[in-house]
Amino acid sequence: MTSFYITTPIYYVNDKPHIGHAYTTISCDILSRYNKLLGNDVYFLTGTDEHGQKVEKAALSANLESQDFVNKMSKNFKDLVSFLNCNIDDFIRTTENRHIISAQAFWKKLLDNNQIYLSNYEGWYSIRDEAFYTENELTKKNGDYFAPSGSKVEWVKEESYFFKLSQWQDKLIKYYEKNPNSILPKTRFNEVLSFIKGGLNDLSVSRTTFKWGIPVPNNTNHVMYVWTDALINYLTAIGYPDQNNKLFKKFWPAIHIVGKDILRFHSVYWPAFLMAADLEPPKRVFAHGWWTNEGQKISKSIGNIIDPYEIVDKYGIDQIRFFLFREVPFGNDGDFSKDAIAQRINSDLSNNFGNLVQRIFSFIAKNCNSIIKKTINISIAEDKILLEFSLKKFDNYMKYMNKQEIDKAIKEVFELLSEANIYIDKQAPWNLKKTNTERMHEVLYVATEIIKRSSLLLYPIMPSSCEKILSLINYKKIDILFQNFEKFPKNDIHIDNPSPIFPRIENND
Ligand code: MSP
Repeated sequence: MTSFYITTPIYYVNDKPHIGHAYTTISCDILSRYNKLLGNDVYFLTGTDEHGQKVEKAALSANLESQDFVNKMSKNFKDLVSFLNCNIDDFIRTTENRHIISAQAFWKKLLDNNQIYLSNYEGWYSIRDEAFYTENELTKKNGDYFAPSGSKVEWVKEESYFFKLSQWQDKLIKYYEKNPNSILPKTRFNEVLSFIKGGLNDLSVSRTTFKWGIPVPNNTNHVMYVWTDALINYLTAIGYPDQNNKLFKKFWPAIHIVGKDILRFHSVYWPAFLMAADLEPPKRVFAHGWWTNEGQKISKSIGNIIDPYEIVDKYGIDQIRFFLFREVPFGNDGDFSKDAIAQRINSDLSNNFGNLVQRIFSFIAKNCNSIIKKTINISIAEDKILLEFSLKKFDNYMKYMNKQEIDKAIKEVFELLSEANIYIDKQAPWNLKKTNTERMHEVLYVATEIIKRSSLLLYPIMPSSCEKILSLINYKKIDILFQNFEKFPKNDIHIDNPSPIFPRIENND
């Protein structure tokens, strides 16, 4: 059985979750469900990043002890996972004991391998990004300096441990030249490679000016740099430092889905840390884009943060999951707008998919006593063409899903649904009812088979709606597997009476 380990970044708990967090988590859920349908052994991890200066500051302004604050905030992220109908295998928190043990063991391994040394750091730091910057990356405005992300940086000077990142430059270049698919999309791969080729400095990996972090083994004046601490979560969850752990043996290395803003941490620092600790680098890092809101950058100060609870309550969870991944190529930036959502729901879900299900199933309920007769021979050209078309679409869909091109995979299914609607219009079972009931049954049978196939393909994106549609033809949860894609039903099919799955959005204020 192929194993598939997929992770979201672990989210900072300084604030409540927003659409950006929901987006990354849903993407992993889609890919995880897709892999389960293939029959793969899947492990899906998410969690929260709870240390560092940013979180410590947020706790202070909330007037809470850091630990109490993170306990409260982490829960919001955990609750969101199930609200988004995401099926995770583990939720990790970096303040958990298992993680502290794992991070310290990893640190010791780097020390043993002579990858860390003590020195002094003097330079720029952004608390919001929890990142170090060199002067040439910054812009100056009114006497202050700003990182490319727009966050203000401050000058820090402190004793610090350093990781010998500079020594990994050539090895990383070699690794990436040999494994060009280990960073996707391609443009991101090129960016990372040219960044590495531009030269790597040793990386400061500990801090001394605050306390909210994992103590550095044997020198408790230092806490681990929050990114070093955080990245190790991917190992902790599968049992590190016990490399004989069943999960560890089965699942490492992982596929990391991250936002483009944190690609450098995952595709430069992280693989170097891993190789320096004698571990394999990630199988793949996929970087997705950023959402804006009605054309504007989403930010707290503008006050245009999109609350996932609000939009899901308004449009429905499957509708939002669909919109986020149908509207924008996964990897590109996207703009969130109410008009765009309503349009997607009405044209793709109500008019195309929903309409096909509705008209076929209610026709069968009304005219065939809710029964479609088993059809043994598919001999009519139009039937064969449509069924073969679905196989081609299935192939393309898998090709895209395997590269995390979720939008393209969805498009393949909608091309199939459009063809199915054209087929029904042409075959017109409502006319056949009067002239040729045998043929009418064949047509309904083929249409139902296409509905089944499309629902299987769309299940990872819209699990509850597709499960509902499949249950109308008596498909059980355990049957939702791609190995049943081409399996025709052995008996007559009883169709339960349908109610509209994707109501149109009429009032969108
Ligand atoms: N804690 C770090 C990750 C550590 S992983 C070892 C972190 N956390 S975060 O909460 O700030 O961001 C998590 C993810 O949310 C990132 O992948 C980021 O790109 C994503 N998003 C935050 N805002 C976003 C949008 N407006 N649009 C899409 N995703 C964005 O970084």
